[in-house]
Amino acid sequence: MIKLVKSSFYNEPETKKKLLAFLAKAEILSMSAECAKFEYGFAKKQGRKFAVFVNSGSSANLALIQALLNLGRLKKGDPIGFSALTWATNVMPLIQLGLHPVAIDCRLDTLNVSWKTLKDQIASVKTVFLTHVLGFSDNIVRMKEFCNENEILLLEDNCEALGSKVDGKLLGNFGMASTFSFFVGHHLSTIEGGMICTDDEELADMLKMVRAHGWDRNLGEAKKQALRKDHNVGEHYARYTFYDLAFNIRPTEIGGFLGNEQLQYWDEIVAKRALNFQQFQKAAENNPDLLPLHVQHMDCISNFAMPVVCKDKEVLEKYKKRFEDNRVEIRPIIAGDMTQQPFYRKYVSSGEHCTNARFVHQNGFYFCNNPELTGEEVDILHSLLLP
Ligand SMILES: Cc1ncc(COP(=O)(O)O)c(C=O)c1O
Repeated sequence: MIKLVKSSFYNEPETKKKLLAFLAKAEILSMSAECAKFEYGFAKKQGRKFAVFVNSGSSANLALIQALLNLGRLKKGDPIGFSALTWATNVMPLIQLGLHPVAIDCRLDTLNVSWKTLKDQIASVKTVFLTHVLGFSDNIVRMKEFCNENEILLLEDNCEALGSKVDGKLLGNFGMASTFSFFVGHHLSTIEGGMICTDDEELADMLKMVRAHGWDRNLGEAKKQALRKDHNVGEHYARYTFYDLAFNIRPTEIGGFLGNEQLQYWDEIVAKRALNFQQFQKAAENNPDLLPLHVQHMDCISNFAMPVVCKDKEVLEKYKKRFEDNRVEIRPIIAGDMTQQPFYRKYVSSGEHCTNARFVHQNGFYFCNNPELTGEEVDILHSLLLP
């Protein structure tokens, strides 16, 4: 069976051995030095000034929206655009935190939102929370320019695209902030985990408060003293003073340790996924049964799953059967048109729908692209994509 997820993390036997040794000697297992080291290393590798580690990618999205609300950069009721083809917990925080989500359809050949669609569909939107679906992007360079020209705040959900590059720049570095997931099967795994990256110090500080109860303990000394002075809080009560709305979504030292271990494999993992993708793409691009993917504008495509979008339902059934007969695990292309998901209809009920995202859902599926696929497995997957 070629399963979607092969292991809990890259180089699992060695990593487990190291984890056991770490656990045996660690004195602190709640968020501490390993987490801080991982944040530092991740920010450096991603090329961002700040990284805030949390317990999942979903929490990263929730914390980012809460932090922007706390800072007054978003207001309750603001319309906020999001990619119709995405993951549920990209959109749920928007609803949970009182914003007004507006779905933006994807393009069929990039599976992502184009700046033109944004321009035509939602002139009133001042914030966009864009997902880089399955490691791909549309013309993100133009999207960023368009957002700058129109004073639109651009946020990136990069949970599916760690390592992908456009114009020499990593996805996740185009918007004011970006989120990442380290769930098993994603690019880097800490079993569960997520990160928010930004170059904005005020936002990074607010994220640290949102992550842990709204208190000041994880801030730098100067920031702590300034807050305490503003609120007239003495040393004794500072421990239990809560400055703004928050959660407890802290990671543990186990996640931090794993993150630090996995970080050394970043380049290897990304390179292997990119190579596998090229192999799959070679077969898929010459197959008239499948919708072609436009990827020429991308320098590197690092995805954890390869989408297959068939030209119609009948062809889909043929390919599903072909993959299943060859014991390859497949899944739908994430949530399809998010506006049709039960939770969205229940809480937003806007009556909108996104035809391309729906087409992808009805005619597509994905299979794994992981760095531990053997050459033989890559060959099997390649052959299944041929006409
Ligand atoms: C686009 C996107 N955003 C957010 C998430 C949530 O990440 P997590 O599973 O770590 O909560 C996922 C999960 O796969 C995702 O694909």
